[in-house]
Amino acid sequence: MVAGALVAAGGATLVACGGGGGGGGDGKDKAPAADKTLGAASEVPVGGGKVYDNAKVVVTQPTAGDFKAFTAVCTHQQCLVGSVKGTEIDCPCHGSRFDASTGKVLGGPAPSPLAPKTIQVTDGQIILKPA
Ligand code: FES
Repeated sequence: MVAGALVAAGGATLVACGGGGGGGGDGKDKAPAADKTLGAASEVPVGGGKVYDNAKVVVTQPTAGDFKAFTAVCTHQQCLVGSVKGTEIDCPCHGSRFDASTGKVLGGPAPSPLAPKTIQVTDGQIILKPA
């Protein structure tokens, strides 16, 4: 009667992968961790707005001195909204329309409003605050 051999698979778990990931990092696709200057406030027309493609933000100025900012990524299929026409932000892909003051859906297939972003106007420059 030979009992099963006891195979002690020594579980020496050597963790020796020289990965000094270092946490943190400057991931390219991450949201900005610091303030980001979008451009001159004067570029955003009163009663209209401007799309900042690089930052994926749309800034509107419904009334003089009152700036609003929203994500420029359409909530339908993630196209970038194309333009601001008066009180509307338009998505060129399938025709969704959003309220330039609130980001609310006015029409089209978009299921939800454009999320607001935080901006600040300093010395005539629009600063996007980190999310
Ligand atoms: S992605 Fe904007 S309407 Fe479809």
